[in-house]
Amino acid sequence: MKQKPFSATSEPLPLTTETTAVDFSLSQDGPEHGGDLQRASLRYGIDRDRWLDLSTGINPDGYPIPEIPEQHFYRLPTQADEHLLAAAKAYYGAESLLLGAGSQPFIELLPALRDSCRVAIPDVGYQEHAWHWQRCGHQVVWYSGVDPQQLDEKIRRGEVDAAVVINPNNPTTSTVPLELLYDWQQRLAHRQGCLVIDEAFADVAIDSSPDEGSFARFSSLPGVVVLRSLGKFFGLAGIRIGFALAGSPMLNALSSRACLWSVSAVSQYVAAMALADHHWQHEAKQRLLLNSNWMYRTLHSRFEEEPIFKSPLFISVSMSSAKAEFIHHRLAGKGVLARLWRIPEREDALLRFGLISEKNPNDRDCLTRALLSC
Ligand SMILES: Cc1ncc(COP(=O)(O)O)c(C=O)c1O
Repeated sequence: MKQKPFSATSEPLPLTTETTAVDFSLSQDGPEHGGDLQRASLRYGIDRDRWLDLSTGINPDGYPIPEIPEQHFYRLPTQADEHLLAAAKAYYGAESLLLGAGSQPFIELLPALRDSCRVAIPDVGYQEHAWHWQRCGHQVVWYSGVDPQQLDEKIRRGEVDAAVVINPNNPTTSTVPLELLYDWQQRLAHRQGCLVIDEAFADVAIDSSPDEGSFARFSSLPGVVVLRSLGKFFGLAGIRIGFALAGSPMLNALSSRACLWSVSAVSQYVAAMALADHHWQHEAKQRLLLNSNWMYRTLHSRFEEEPIFKSPLFISVSMSSAKAEFIHHRLAGKGVLARLWRIPEREDALLRFGLISEKNPNDRDCLTRALLSC
């Protein structure tokens, strides 16, 4: 089937029998998210500001907010700030990019750039990808979010036209090496396909420098789009800044659908400073390492038998669904909110924990006590 890379969608395709993960095309509700304290408060009767919220993967020691010149509050952000664009290109090592209100708007827009197609998406991973591709009528072909290299066979056999890779994966922490991504890009581009690489958590990697692990410098290759976020490593989830890194055809298609004035001048000012602040970035990586080591040790002493997946921004513990649900519920009863990832059609689940800053020893004690009691 010949694909038109950047055109509107047509009729939905029937669902594949390979569908094993949540089938959003049958649901009116979007995916659940971490950080939903309102929902947790309603369910457990605990006030919003009394929670220890470990349900996101946001750096607990986020970039400090600088003094912001008043003019940024009054100006319409008609064009992206040139300092911000320059800082982002230098930071990511990308030739061309597009600013967005987080990486989420691009996740929502991308499926509309193609006619109905077969898109590979990890069965465990940030679920907004599947939700939006399915809503747009595409046929999702699931692959393992724990072992993403399984996608290789599907691409080699020509079973998919597009692929979404979350690198590193949230919540499984799995990664795909650059050489393999490059091979997938070549194969997909040969068939006018596209490769979406979600690098929201790629700024700080355990085994490699971000440059080694990031596809950013290859992002202008045909069919590729790399998504980056200031909401994780920089901790600036509230200012809503992200980027799509890609070649001109992809960026033009995205920008023609983008919302006018969607990123405030205030946010752009803060983001430009954060992206250019190498000193803060260096120190933040050291702090994250200490914080994630503490969280790993704490969880390991409670879950000695269970496999634990460690990343610099969160730790996921694998266990049976029943156990994960029980522990999630008991922790929530103590005001500690973790993130439960049920793995559909399997008996197991992941409990994901965001980090606690060493500046908050009381919060660390609170988690330790809560873990002991469940
Ligand atoms: C893997 C992944 N990608 C993208 C996003 C979207 O984040 P943002 O819009 O803040 O960049 C998230 C949010 O949790 C995520 O986990």
